[in-house]
Amino acid sequence: MPKLRSKFICQECGFQSEQWLGRCPECSSYNSFVEELVGSASDERKLDITLRQKAEPITAIVKRGFVRERSGIDEIDRVLGGGVVRGSTVLLGGEPGIGKSTLMLQMLHSFLSIDKERSALYVAAEESIEQIAMRADRLKVASPSIMILPDTDVTLVCEEIERLKPSIVVVDSIQAMVHPELVSAAGSVSQVRECASELVRMAKVTGTSIFMIGHVTKEGVIAGPKVLEHMIDTVLYMEGDQHYALRLLRVTKNRFGPVGEVGLFKMTEDGLEPVTNPSEYLLSGSQVETSGNMAAAVIEGKRPLLLEVQALVAPTYFGAPRRLVTGMDYNRACILIAVLERRADVRLGDQDVYINVAGGIRVTESALDLPAALAIASSRYDVVIPRGVAAFGEVGLGGEVRPVPLPERRLLEMERLGFKTCFGPLYPNGGRFGGELKGLSYIAVRQVGEAISKLLGLGSSGEWRHRRKGIASAKRGDKSSAGTEDA
Ligand SMILES: Nc1ncnc2c1ncn2[C@@H]1O[C@H](COP(=O)(O)OP(=O)(O)OP(=O)(O)O)[C@@H](O)[C@H]1O
Ligand SMILES: [Mg+2]
Ligand SMILES: [Zn+2]
Repeated sequence: MPKLRSKFICQECGFQSEQWLGRCPECSSYNSFVEELVGSASDERKLDITLRQKAEPITAIVKRGFVRERSGIDEIDRVLGGGVVRGSTVLLGGEPGIGKSTLMLQMLHSFLSIDKERSALYVAAEESIEQIAMRADRLKVASPSIMILPDTDVTLVCEEIERLKPSIVVVDSIQAMVHPELVSAAGSVSQVRECASELVRMAKVTGTSIFMIGHVTKEGVIAGPKVLEHMIDTVLYMEGDQHYALRLLRVTKNRFGPVGEVGLFKMTEDGLEPVTNPSEYLLSGSQVETSGNMAAAVIEGKRPLLLEVQALVAPTYFGAPRRLVTGMDYNRACILIAVLERRADVRLGDQDVYINVAGGIRVTESALDLPAALAIASSRYDVVIPRGVAAFGEVGLGGEVRPVPLPERRLLEMERLGFKTCFGPLYPNGGRFGGELKGLSYIAVRQVGEAISKLLGLGSSGEWRHRRKGIASAKRGDKSSAGTEDA
């Protein structure tokens, strides 16, 4: 029996302390310390098992490079930077029920079907092997070369990896794995860290690529996130709204490729299907012409996405006005509302404001500011924004519309989908984007109030203030000034 000692470990970042602390000095989390028994033997043992390696010239290694293997699912390959790197470790995080196990099973199937020599091992640490098998059957991805191992002991899993030498391993999930030398419960920081480091070592030694599924806590972080992310080569997150079909696969860390790429899927009965035309998919729901709807161009990864931001402004009848926001950052929305009030004279102090990004997508990019502001104004004054109009741009506290990256990509996507007019920030080139844009006119605006008055057909900013009272009666869908490039 190894000697045991007790330590207090921050469950957020893995910081260790001899006594209990109310607040973690490392990551500033409160009440995150849990007493864990740590087997003292494990640290020494790690030294013994590190394989003896010989040093070699760096150029020899450059020549050898690393081997990338395509998984056959393009959305995954792109996110990984071109395929699965042999011997690498990947962490796939996501909320419960988002589709992590589904995606991994589909990936194994596709990975194996590319090359008959490949083999796969699925470690079922959480669900029964029958559950996994039935899921594979439903997804039509069951194949004899996918081996399933129902075990939670990481040392036994490693032995099985050494015996089978599979090309790829999925551990579902890392939080359910235990190291027999540690006494702490499965899912605690020391268990997760020890199991993951054992698997990382295994991947390096055998050249097997290992995918680990990790659960995400309410705050949206993988339990013991920093601890895990340091060790692992590539960290992926699967996101999406349970009530919608769209799923995003993001990469937040990648030692073998760029970060920021996204893969898009939709969840169907037959599993996750790649979405090749996300803008069309996201805009397909916008059939009714009502005020408060505005098309926005955002960038996810390197891809332009057109989507619809909706606002509903209604008088507050009781208490403080409500602000309910889905699909965009709540604080950002509150700032926008204040900016509209102060800088563009849109009265919202006695109004409830609801904001929603259609399609269940969560946008973090500030380019959503201008379209969201326009949607709010459109709903406030009940003026329909004509079809074929989109916008993008960040809105500052002064109400100024600020440039965001990659305007050309956004505009080309709009043009491709038949948009006619775009409102956006003023760029150094004066908002003229080469001769590429044919059917699309770009209207550069400096101030959010200027965009509102131009788009909603309410005259210039000065006049806008003056006419505020009469605005509610403004003609619905008045297009008089949209589509022209007057300053
Ligand atoms: N019979 C079915 N038909 C259609 N969709 C289904 C069916 N069964 C499950 N799903 C979808 O699959 C999702 C669950 O997928 P999966 O089990 O892969 O998620 P997970 O992220 O691994 O969940 P967990 O956190 O429980 O491990 C469900 O939320 C549902 O959307
Ligand atoms: Mg699962
Ligand atoms: Zn901490």
